Formats: sequence, structure tokens, C-alpha cells
Amino acid sequence: MLETSRATTTYRRLLLLCFLSSSALCFLLSEPVEGEEEIVSRSHFPDGFLFGTTTSAYQIEGAYLDDGKGLSNWDVFCHVPGNIKENGNGDTADNHYHLFLEDIELMHSLGVTAYRLSISWTRILPRGRYGEVNPMGIMFYNRILDRLLLKGIEPFVTIHHHDIPQELADRYGGWLSPLMQEDFVHFARICFGSFGHKVKHWATINEANLFVDMAYIRGWYPPSHCSPPFGICSTGNSDVEPLIALHNMILAHGKAVKIYRQEFQGKQGGSIGIVLHAMWYEPLRANNELDQQAVTRGLAFGVGWLLDPLVYGDYPSEMRLLLGDTLPRFTVDEMDYLKGSIDYIGINHYLTLYAKDCLHSSCAPGGSDHAIRGYVYTTGDRDGVPIGQPTGNPRFFVVPGGLKNIVNYIKQRYNNMPMYVTENGYAPPPGEEVQLNQILHDVKRIDYHKSYLAAVASCIRDGADVRGYFAWSLMDNFEWIDGYTVRYGLYYVDRTTLKRIPKTSALWYKDFLANSSGNALDLTQYHGRLEQDLRVAGLEDL
Ligand code: FCB
Repeated sequence: MLETSRATTTYRRLLLLCFLSSSALCFLLSEPVEGEEEIVSRSHFPDGFLFGTTTSAYQIEGAYLDDGKGLSNWDVFCHVPGNIKENGNGDTADNHYHLFLEDIELMHSLGVTAYRLSISWTRILPRGRYGEVNPMGIMFYNRILDRLLLKGIEPFVTIHHHDIPQELADRYGGWLSPLMQEDFVHFARICFGSFGHKVKHWATINEANLFVDMAYIRGWYPPSHCSPPFGICSTGNSDVEPLIALHNMILAHGKAVKIYRQEFQGKQGGSIGIVLHAMWYEPLRANNELDQQAVTRGLAFGVGWLLDPLVYGDYPSEMRLLLGDTLPRFTVDEMDYLKGSIDYIGINHYLTLYAKDCLHSSCAPGGSDHAIRGYVYTTGDRDGVPIGQPTGNPRFFVVPGGLKNIVNYIKQRYNNMPMYVTENGYAPPPGEEVQLNQILHDVKRIDYHKSYLAAVASCIRDGADVRGYFAWSLMDNFEWIDGYTVRYGLYYVDRTTLKRIPKTSALWYKDFLANSSGNALDLTQYHGRLEQDLRVAGLEDL
């Protein structure tokens, strides 16, 4: 059953929660009392729970050629007219490269305790392992990390978030080649060595499972590989290539973690994990056993594809059964170092969809009738009724219960390993943000974060070991193929001046983190503050 977004509960009684695996980990939480309106506040989360914002290098940094940076695959891809909406690109993005001190100040003023960022591969290694390390790149991230630490903000660093050196794309087609494993290990080792004494949370790769879908099934992200019926591309094989690319990414992760554990973890004392694109499904035909099985398969082909090898050493049996030898195999040695190669699971959650069986039932052609999709058809609506409120992405709907369900599923499948919600956020549907005032008074974004935070709090009360929540995103930024047309930020970024203006949600997050007003949002109070901000920024006429 779908969880409703608002439980009619509030939190009163105190509850002592301990994780048995680590006896020191006990904390007091408020427990909900039936029959009253739910209020989510910071006190519903354990001490030390990380509250953060998140970004990625290509989406905010800009300065795409400054100080020795090399060209990434995204630099090149965005320069081809027609690839990105309104021909946007990350050449300047939010100019975070030059404005990072200001951006850290924004985070500090919000009161976040953590910030998730990624490292631009080509700022550190302009030509991958076929060239030298760029000292200016190392200096840039050291300055960011130093500043974060000075401000009491814990850096949570993703090594690879979509952008690879174009040199590697040209030499051997990026992640399709096993040679990429060595490139990634080389890059990761430099990151551990240069930044590891300042970083307590590493994530090797962002959403590898979504990336291969976008790059090798649909062909929407570089290198734009696909085949019919998934899409029309000049090259590719949507049934096979994503499996090879993800296999290489999994092995690259495993090798990097092995090195981190052997050479760095002991003296640096950090933890290392990976970030999953974690979607939840509900059966399209309610109470239908076949669609229930489709949900199970969808989860195995989504979550299990990436995480099973890293926890158990091999792909899920559901995948082997349907894909046979098309699914690559791990050697015994590989299984050995993959097994247990994550200290935590990073969960990026944006969507819940309906799932319909296509193994025994008939489905329209389009890809769901292929093994790579697990013979699962997914859709956001049932009989014309959307599964939740629509957003700026046609496949993303507001279904807070989906986060609760996916966390509980991961908790069970992976023995309640530590989890962080490494991304969760809202962009309004097109047409809802025409004027600046509409962009800034983002009440729906506030409702979104409140309801998803409440879902996380409820998972924790039920014993899930969730240790952090990161709002995507600190500020509006380059949203991949959507360019700048879709906005997820707590801060609005004026595209001409690049000034950052707090949206109402930034002010709400600040209050939430200060634990002052919690849910009791007084919008009039925010209006006054916003207008003042606009005056200061010289934007009051917009
Ligand atoms: C996630 C990506 C992130 C951002 C959000 C909206 O899939 O990791 O970079 O684009 O979606």
C-alpha cells in the first residue's frame, strides 16, 4: 500500500533507540502520539545526524577551462547544439569555482552540518592518467575543504558524479572499457592522498545505475549510445552495453575501496560507500500478484543490480535468470574484493512509479518487453491519475511514502547497514515558475522536504540506521540535459548576475535546523525577509 504523505501523528513520548551492532549508538527520540497533526522537527533525529545540502562539480563550478582544467565529456557534449535544452552548458554554471567562499557562507548561515560535493575529474587530472596532476585543482578542493571544516561543516565527497575526462571517452569509449577501472583507481588514489585527512565520508560514484541507463540505454547522456526501441542513436546496444558499463563501474569501485582500506582508511579514519539511484514501485494493478512480482523484479534490477555485488559479491538471481550470459560474471577474486566493499549506502531518492508485469502480461512495445528492463513497465499514472503531485521532471512525483518504503527495503535487504539520504529534492513543474516571486515563494518545496524528512524520521523510529539527509540542491544549477530550465535550489541564482537569493525554502530550512519554528511556518515572516534580500540584491523590480 502507498503510504500517505501526512500521518496524523505528533511526537511526544521519548523513545530510547539503540543499534545492536554498535552498542555506543543509543539515542533518545520523540515518539509519535496518534491522532494529532504531524510535526517534523530536528529533535526527531538523533544527535550527530547530518543535515546538509548537495551539489555536483559540473553542475555548479563553471570555470571550465580555468587554471589548467581539461575538457570533460560534459564540456564537449554541451557544446553540440541541440543536446541541452536552450543550449545550456556548464561553462559558467553558478561560477562556484570563484564564488565558493560565498557559497560556504550561505551554507553556514543555513546551519547545515554537512555538505555533499563532487570532484571534477578534469580539474585534478586534465587528461586522466595520460597526463600530470593539476596542482591548481588540488588547491581548489583543499581550499573548499579547509573552509568547510573551519565553518564546522562536514564534507561528504563524491569522487565521480557523471563527468569523465574527454580524453578517456576518446581513447576507449569511457565506461564501456575495462581500462576505465584503472583510470578511476588512479583518480581515487590521488583524491584519498590529497584530501583524505580532511574527508570522513567518501562516495566513490554517484548513481552508477541511473548513469548507465541515461548514457547506454536511452542515450540521453554522453556518449549517447542506444538502440531501438529505446532510442535512436548513431551507435550502441541498449540491451547489452549498460550491463558492461555498470560492471566496469562496480569493479572500479571495488578496486578503489580496496586501496582506500589498505592504504588510507586506517590512518585517515573515514568511511567509504557508493550512491544509489533508488526508486520505489507500487503495483500498477492493485492486488495483482504479477504486478507485485514486477515490483520485486524492478527493485532487484534497480537497487540489487548495483548493491548486491558490493554487499554479497554477485548480481541478484532475478537478473541472472532473465539476462543469462548477457549479464557479465565476476571472477572469484573479484567477488572477494567486492563483497563488503561499502561502509554505508547513499540513497538518492526522487521517484516512485507504478510497475506492471511484462513477463506474463502483454505490454506495449517500447523497451519494457526487454530483459534489460526486467520485463517491467513503469508509469507515473494509473487510469489517468498521477501517483503523486507532478514536478519539474515528468517521471518524478511527490510520494513521501516511497522514501519510507525504499529505506525499509534497503534496510532489510542489506541488514540495516548505515544509510544516508544523499539526495532528495523538488523542482516545480514547467509553467509554475514564470515570475521571480513564484520562484522565490516556493511553498511546495518546503512541503516536499518536510514530508520526506518526516518519512526519514519515521524510518529511524522503526530502527533504520539512517544517518543523514542532504537536500538537492543548495542552489539552482545546471540540470544536465534540462540545462537551466529546471530548478531544485534552496537558493535562486540570477542567470545574468549569478547572485544567490534565498528562496522561502532556504529560510525554512534554516529555521528547521535551528529547531525554532519547526513546522509552524509563518509565510508572512518569510515574505518580509525575502523582500529585504531582494532589495539588498538590487532585484526588487523583478
Ligand atoms: C540526480 C543527480 C543530480 C541531480 C538530481 C536532480 O539524479 O544525481 O545530479 O541532477 O538528480
